[in-house]
Amino acid sequence: MSSHNSYKRQTKRFISSKKLRVSVIGLGFVGLSIALVNSKKGFTTIGVDVNKEKIRNLKKGIPDFFEPGIENYLDYCLKSNLIKFTTNLEETLFNTDLTFVCVGTPPKNDGTIDLKYIKNAICDIHKILKSKKKYHLLIIKSTVFPQTTKDVVLPVFSDLLKKGLVDVVMNPEFLREGYAIKDILEPHLIVIGGNSKHGGQILEKYYRNFYGKLPEIIHCDPTTAELIKYANNAFLATKISFINSIANICQNLPGVDVNVISKAIGKDRRIGPLFLNAGPGFGGSCLPKDLSALINFSKRYDNTDMLFSAVEKVNKTQPIKVLNLIKKINLLKPSKTISVLGLAFKKDTDDIRAATSIEIVKKLIKNKLIVKVHDPKAMDNFKKIFGNKIIYCQTVDECIKNSDCCLILTEWDSYKKLSPQKFKKLMKKPNIIDARRILDPKKFSKLNLQAIGLGN
Ligand code: UDX
Ligand code: UDX
Repeated sequence: MSSHNSYKRQTKRFISSKKLRVSVIGLGFVGLSIALVNSKKGFTTIGVDVNKEKIRNLKKGIPDFFEPGIENYLDYCLKSNLIKFTTNLEETLFNTDLTFVCVGTPPKNDGTIDLKYIKNAICDIHKILKSKKKYHLLIIKSTVFPQTTKDVVLPVFSDLLKKGLVDVVMNPEFLREGYAIKDILEPHLIVIGGNSKHGGQILEKYYRNFYGKLPEIIHCDPTTAELIKYANNAFLATKISFINSIANICQNLPGVDVNVISKAIGKDRRIGPLFLNAGPGFGGSCLPKDLSALINFSKRYDNTDMLFSAVEKVNKTQPIKVLNLIKKINLLKPSKTISVLGLAFKKDTDDIRAATSIEIVKKLIKNKLIVKVHDPKAMDNFKKIFGNKIIYCQTVDECIKNSDCCLILTEWDSYKKLSPQKFKKLMKKPNIIDARRILDPKKFSKLNLQAIGLGN
């Protein structure tokens, strides 16, 4: 029988199989969430990572980051023997049918993304699949700039692609930290950027088993799928820099509040209410990195980066706007004590990657202020950067006690409930800078409240 026919028969068996066996390489907030949700749904799932300590901890039910629901999922999957964690990639690829590649694509100093982990991973995978000699579907989840799948990934597998033993699909994820599990279970869209129709069909078959009722699917080529991901994140970043620019105008108009403007324009269905919260600038492991990668990529084509560069510039300036509010009340001065409430790049995560709190606290230290910090989840990560240069407080009360100024940088729900009385009672002087607009200006009218986007 010709190899092509045997492949066809083999793939037919493969597609018909009810439950494809899943592996995930790279167990960050994306990879681990995907692995756990798959195993909880009954797919045989193996999670692989190069980080031995991470694997050891996962086997003990200890995730190395905070993500709501992850610990319970991990506990359930371990107890029901639904998941396997290993550093052994060979054993994994031989015992699964499709693999999600979720290794890191961190930014380089010049703003482009570092593909070394993706390259390492696909070369390791190729070596192993050459000897597996059975069909395997590879799904690239990591965010890579346009044409990476076509120019970097596919050439590595050209021999196996020709034999029909491998298909590669670029299948971007849209998971938000803090909502990773929810966003996996209820995606707004599935984008399938297949190198071939066949690969896309198999991934759609898998998703049919996974979701039961299929979410909307867009089939396209890998490059289009890569650009959809970048366009999605760049638009979100644009919305945030837009409302921050409006906030910076409101700042100078007495009685004008950006939150009122945001609410009003959000009523226009063409705009929508989400991602119009003015703040200290967007952070996280995706928006800043993806925007900068898109700027670098689009610079190749006749100044198409102009808008994205402006979005990035607004964002880089936003922390200075926050510091200017402290300067405006004469407290950006040596030996003043400032309490910082919130360090994570947003609420419901311990992640401080590209958090604006890092830049702001560095500037506070540079201005020789005494910095006290509190965050429900992110203080251990913050300590890895600032060590004993600042004071870590286990409670809000301890943090704001005897301080000259309190700066709110993350919109944790627990901070939204803080009363004016508490600040008045505990602080040397109740000077509050609300960089997240979570306090009601009317309730705090008796205290000195400065806030992003609030003209006074
Ligand atoms: C990752 C990508 O960084 C991001 O571009 C994509 O959009 C989603 O997946 P994240 O889950 O935050 O985001 O990844 P990260 O926190 O960087 O973790 C990546 C994991 O891959 C780490 O656990 C790392 O140990 C692991 N890894 C890295 C490997 O297993 N193999 C490698 O070769 C490199
Ligand atoms: C983002 C995208 O939302 C997600 O689709 C993609 O897969 C990964 O990147 P994430 O980085 O987890 O998710 O956080 P997100 O909720 O988008 O917030 C990013 C930053 O923007 C945070 O610093 C947040 O505080 C800030 N932000 C968000 C605002 O300042 N204002 C807003 O209205 C919304």
